[in-house]
This record gives sequence, structure tokens and C-alpha cells, in this order.
Amino acid sequence: GAPLDVDLSPIQDGQIVNVFWRGKLIFVRKLTEKEVTDMKAVPLSEMIDPAAFDTRVKKGHDQWLVSYGNCTHLGCVPIGHSGNYEGWSCPCHGSQFDAVGRVRRGPAPTNLPIPPYAFESDTKIKIG
Ligand code: FES
Repeated sequence: GAPLDVDLSPIQDGQIVNVFWRGKLIFVRKLTEKEVTDMKAVPLSEMIDPAAFDTRVKKGHDQWLVSYGNCTHLGCVPIGHSGNYEGWSCPCHGSQFDAVGRVRRGPAPTNLPIPPYAFESDTKIKIG
């Protein structure tokens, strides 16, 4: 499939936008400053699939998460701004993800994967 350009300029702090690339749901989320601070502070020892903050965002773009949008358990779509970790909770079997898509409560075994993407400017990404 062709790459997908996403204009970030309309997306507000705290907002999650759903886009589709190659038929797959992708979350584009602009974290608040508080969410960035909180996510950087989570100890790796508290995580099911340990991943430092820096591995979840692009360098110099701390406020932006781009992740696939299907639960890594059985593929349901987690609900944003719910659960106990400033992220998502899955309506199917209760998995919870934090604001950068790291699984924090199972049964999902792994974090929401990050698709290939790059910043073309501060307000535009290209997925793919
Ligand atoms: Fe999400 Fe099972 S599909 S917890």
C-alpha cells in the first residue's frame, strides 16, 4: 500500500485520532505534557512488556504516539482515555495500555506495535 500522510496540526493536546493504513487501524495521539512526564516516570519493572519511553516516540517529538490500534490479545479495539494508565482499556477481556501504548494489564502479552513512520515536518508524518 501507499504511504499515508497525516496532518498533525488539527490534533489537540490529549486527542486521539484514528487513521487507517493498509487496512489497519492506527492511533495517532498527542500526549499532554503531564502524560509525557508520567509516561517517562514509569519504572520498567512495572511493565509486562518493558519498553522505555524513548522507544515509543520519535526523538524530538515526545508528544506524539503512533501505534497500531488493535489489542495484542485477540485484536479488539481498545477504548481511549479509559483504564488506570492514562491510555486505553480493551472491552473484550480487560487489557489495559498506557498513554504510549504499553500493555500494563493483561491478558494482552505485548505493547501496541509501532508502524513504520517518519516526521516530514513538525506537523506532518508519513506512515509507511
Ligand atoms: Fe483485548 Fe482480549 S482482545 S483483552
